[in-house]
Amino acid sequence: MNSQPRRVENLQTDKGSVPVYATGVVEQPWADYSATDHDVWRQLYERQREILVGRASDEFLVAQDAMGMTPDRIPKFTDLNRVMRDATGWEIIGVEGLLPELVFFDHLANRRFPVTWWIRKPEQIDYISEPDLFHDLFGHVPLLMNPLFADYMASYGRGGVKAHGIGEHALQNLTRLYWYTVEFGLIQQKDGLRIYGSGIVSSKGESIHCLESDAPNRIGFDLERIMRTRYRIDTYQKTYFVIDSFEQLMEATDPDFTPIYARLATQDSVPAGDVRDDDRVLHRGSGEGWASDGDV
Ligand code: PHE
Ligand code: CO
Repeated sequence: MNSQPRRVENLQTDKGSVPVYATGVVEQPWADYSATDHDVWRQLYERQREILVGRASDEFLVAQDAMGMTPDRIPKFTDLNRVMRDATGWEIIGVEGLLPELVFFDHLANRRFPVTWWIRKPEQIDYISEPDLFHDLFGHVPLLMNPLFADYMASYGRGGVKAHGIGEHALQNLTRLYWYTVEFGLIQQKDGLRIYGSGIVSSKGESIHCLESDAPNRIGFDLERIMRTRYRIDTYQKTYFVIDSFEQLMEATDPDFTPIYARLATQDSVPAGDVRDDDRVLHRGSGEGWASDGDV
């Protein structure tokens, strides 16, 4: 690799923000990070670690410590990879931005986690619409040190390749599972409700909102319910699904999804904020401050 990797971000068009897909694997241009880049990492790292004690799951915090990430500078992928390969066989690969679905699934199935090489700018500390290095590395990578979660992610990748072959519906169902577990999952720990989803742990606002706000629903994990449920990409979630343990998540997702996809294809989607009669409701949201549409 001799050319400088690109920063592939969303394009602003008259139709709104449009994701742009990258495909290649790039080497992390570590020597080229600026003092500002390292400082953005440090600020975000310190702020989130403080917020996450008592809010993130014990598994997440333990895994993050075990990786040897520190606030003082952006970690080198090569350093983290040595630790991860020994622990669970996972490795990080550098990418320029979002990947097409099948490429992404294939990486996961082979225990390669794509991490965006570039970090957000200082004015994007509180919000950025696409995944950057902080979201990917701080949010996703630690749990890959956890043997159960490591297996879940690889199974997800294999399931993704399969769903891609089945069709658009299956893919939508499986994407919702990723959204409501890997990105926005909560877990019921003995001593309280905790966060494990990467989209939450990399966001200050949502880390507080998902646990402490009255507005969102918090509902017990149910595979088919999740697969039917729409979600929000541009605001905090209206509903979070709560697992009891990573073992529960593994068991529930172990069966072949093919007959489930077939059954769900004839059912309507559930809007993001709905609560249904057969939900295991842990908290019924007040719905305060929600816009009425925008679910995808
Ligand atoms: N059991 C799923 C299938 O048959 C694969 C999978 C496992 C998907 C774990 C997600 C998470 O497609
Ligand atoms: Co993510």
